[in-house]
Amino acid sequence: MKKTPSYSTQELREFARVLRGRRTVDQYIQTPVPDELVREAIEVATWAPNHYVSEPWRFILPGKETIARIIDLCAEMVGSEKGAELGEHKRRTWSEKPGWIIVTCQHNEDGLREREDYAACSAAVQNFMLYLWKAGVGSKWTSGPITRDSRFFEAIGVDEKDAFVVGMLWYGYPKITPTQSRQDVSKVIRRLE
Ligand SMILES: Cc1cc2nc3c(=O)[nH]c(=O)nc-3n(C[C@H](O)[C@H](O)[C@H](O)COP(=O)(O)O)c2cc1C
Repeated sequence: MKKTPSYSTQELREFARVLRGRRTVDQYIQTPVPDELVREAIEVATWAPNHYVSEPWRFILPGKETIARIIDLCAEMVGSEKGAELGEHKRRTWSEKPGWIIVTCQHNEDGLREREDYAACSAAVQNFMLYLWKAGVGSKWTSGPITRDSRFFEAIGVDEKDAFVVGMLWYGYPKITPTQSRQDVSKVIRRLE
């Protein structure tokens, strides 16, 4: 006899625990995340849905020199807008991020296609973060002004005409895992006749 499907198997509960439990992490311990784990996370990221199988994502792994350029740029941008002290504070906090990755999306002259490609890249970023989370690694997606600055594109070797930045992500083993809440799911569901 066929078994009645159950929606609360151990495996499903575990899956839900990972989905719910992932948090944006801003503070990390300094233990480096193995390159191979990051490579696996990128590989699983690319299994995100993507319309027309456009595979619009690119994953850029900056080395020490590029990270230093990004941090300098951040300190300069924040410093000139909010004062040198805050700029230097940013330099310190960004220098403590153990892992860096930048996700870009190829431009498309068709606006709808580009929107769909951005959606696909966002799904890929979520895959990436969830895979790392399951491996005990936290991450933070940032889309701050630096990710739209020409000097940033220059630093990461991307032509602004070809692609835009979906996000810059930091990752590492969490020092502090923040708590979060969500409104009750009934608030975001609307059933129609
Ligand atoms: C597209 C996107 C951009 C984000 N950019 C930032 C950012 O610039 N700075 C930041 O502190 N958090 C950023 N976040 C993370 C959100 O703040 C975070 O997801 C939210 O606070 C909910 O926390 P949780 O991820 O732990 O559930 C971004 C998230 C997304 C999806």
